[in-house]
Amino acid sequence: VTPRRLLRSPAGILGVCIIGACLDIGLNCTPGLAAQPDLTGMTARVAPCTACHGKEGRATPSGYFPRIAGKPAGYLRNQLVNFREGRRYYAPMTYLLEHLSDAYLAEIAQHFSELDVPYPPPPSLLASPALRERGQALALEGDAERGIPACAGCHGRALTGAAPYIPGRLGLPPDYLAGQLGAWKNGQRRAAKPDCMAQIAAKLVPEEVAAVSAWMASQAVPDNGRPRPAGTEKLPMRCGSVPESASR
Ligand code: HEC
Ligand code: HEC
Repeated sequence: VTPRRLLRSPAGILGVCIIGACLDIGLNCTPGLAAQPDLTGMTARVAPCTACHGKEGRATPSGYFPRIAGKPAGYLRNQLVNFREGRRYYAPMTYLLEHLSDAYLAEIAQHFSELDVPYPPPPSLLASPALRERGQALALEGDAERGIPACAGCHGRALTGAAPYIPGRLGLPPDYLAGQLGAWKNGQRRAAKPDCMAQIAAKLVPEEVAAVSAWMASQAVPDNGRPRPAGTEKLPMRCGSVPESASR
């Protein structure tokens, strides 16, 4: 089908837009069409994303690309804005997002948060039992003496996260998890202040980062990773990216 032919039908305007000026990534050149709940439009818009994040944003539990399907909408939106504004660094993502509006990013976030697609079984990992035991203790109990709250205190008892701002901790590659904790330690990743994750990551020694990442990555994902409902538990620390905890 040639662009000229597509131009004749109203739906073809979108087609031409995708083939032509909007090739970059379904850019906002047809606001009228984008506003409709048009599956074809959203599928086209997120096609460049699935090249890295996998079909429907499900990724795989190995490698580095994080799964984005089913993560809470507010969390996803915050991350897209963070990449666009340089609070997180990954050049191809920043490039894709740099000219997109907050509203457009919120729609993409909403789309991925609503995908309820199955998780594969976790990979079998080489970490020693002792390392995984240390990881499990940090995740479920924390280390009160050193002021490290249990990860489960915020990420949920089942570690599947809390809507709408706290992501689950399971079903992600160990390298990605360790990479994020390392990025917070060295200031490469930042969230709204007070940045609770930066404070927590700063207290973890490298072996603990490896231990907790290996243990989390080796857990099966219960309840297909659904985050618990909003506001069901009080957080042990204030987090700027969770507005109700930040104002307490
Ligand atoms: C070239 C590969 C690539 C493309 C294309 C890409 N991403 Fe990413 N994305 C990544 C990588 C790698 C990361 C992790 C970067 C880091 O280390 O923080 C990431 C991180 C993310 C995160 C944060 C995930 C989390 O759990 O915090 C979101 C959300 C996201 N991408 C959404 C998108 C969307 C939406 C698109 C399409 C507009 C897209 N990505 C296109 C590679 C890509
Ligand atoms: C006080 C609450 C709190 C505690 C305790 C906590 N987290 Fe988080 N965590 C958050 C919030 C909020 C975010 C989202 C930050 C953002 O918006 O960038 C997050 C995000 C993360 C991410 C990034 C997820 C992704 O997909 O990129 C990782 C990794 C993480 N936490 C690991 C941990 C580990 C490991 C522990 C325990 C040692 C822990 N967290 C304890 C609140 C918490």
